[in-house]
Amino acid sequence: MGLRAILLGPPGAGKGTQAAFIVERFGVTHVSSGDLFRLHVAEGTPIGLRLEPYLSAGDLVPDDLVLEMLTTSVTDATTAGGYLLDGFPRTVAQAEAAYRMGKPHGVTVHAVVALEAPPEVLLDRLVKRGVDSHRPDDTEVVIRHRLDVYAQSTAPLLEYYERRGVLLRFDASRTIEAVAAEVLVELEKTLAAAGEQLHDR
Ligand code: AP5
Ligand code: MG
Repeated sequence: MGLRAILLGPPGAGKGTQAAFIVERFGVTHVSSGDLFRLHVAEGTPIGLRLEPYLSAGDLVPDDLVLEMLTTSVTDATTAGGYLLDGFPRTVAQAEAAYRMGKPHGVTVHAVVALEAPPEVLLDRLVKRGVDSHRPDDTEVVIRHRLDVYAQSTAPLLEYYERRGVLLRFDASRTIEAVAAEVLVELEKTLAAAGEQLHDR
């Protein structure tokens, strides 16, 4: 079994950006809740119609709907050899549910990669991305709301995972390459300490 890791961080911290490096290095499945939800909205599926108002407003999708959509992906990735979760879990209730998903397989998460940067850096990145991202939530008003939602509902997960001894914190205001280099080194160390073999190597 390979790496099992979670990317945790506010909007614009670089979860998607760093995910590409981690997935390439460790050969695990990238499970991005936001990408999955946006795909449903773009395709106009029944579930996409339910998700759209939350995504546009920058509000959290209710936990039961999130779990309905993510449980199979996370379980499949676990049995396939490892995962990188991006954007999930996002509430303590989701984190507890994610923990329960691993139980039948006798596994838990190796590491939680917390990406941290000041709000003004995050706002600047997302406003710039909004010029051509076509994401309805990349407008200044909605970005500010997403940052508030993160502080209110998701930031408590830092303490949750700190208590479990799996939290790794990174200064994500540096260049993409500098953050990636440090993240990869720390994940390698964590996996080595867990006595796991690298997938596909
Ligand atoms: P989601 O898709 O997860 O979006 P988010 O958390 O708001 O974050 P982003 O994807 O905007 O940012 P990112 O951290 O991935 O940064 P990125 O690498 O793109 O969620 C969207 C919505 O879906 C939520 O609001 C909610 O409605 C719903 N949702 C999703 N999951 C949910 C859940 N579990 N529960 C409930 N609701 C849920 O980078 C951003 C920009 O910065 C890019 O332009 C990038 O090029 C640039 N950049 C990245 N790193 C750097 C760097 N180091 N230096 C300079 N620029 C950088
Ligand atoms: Mg993202």
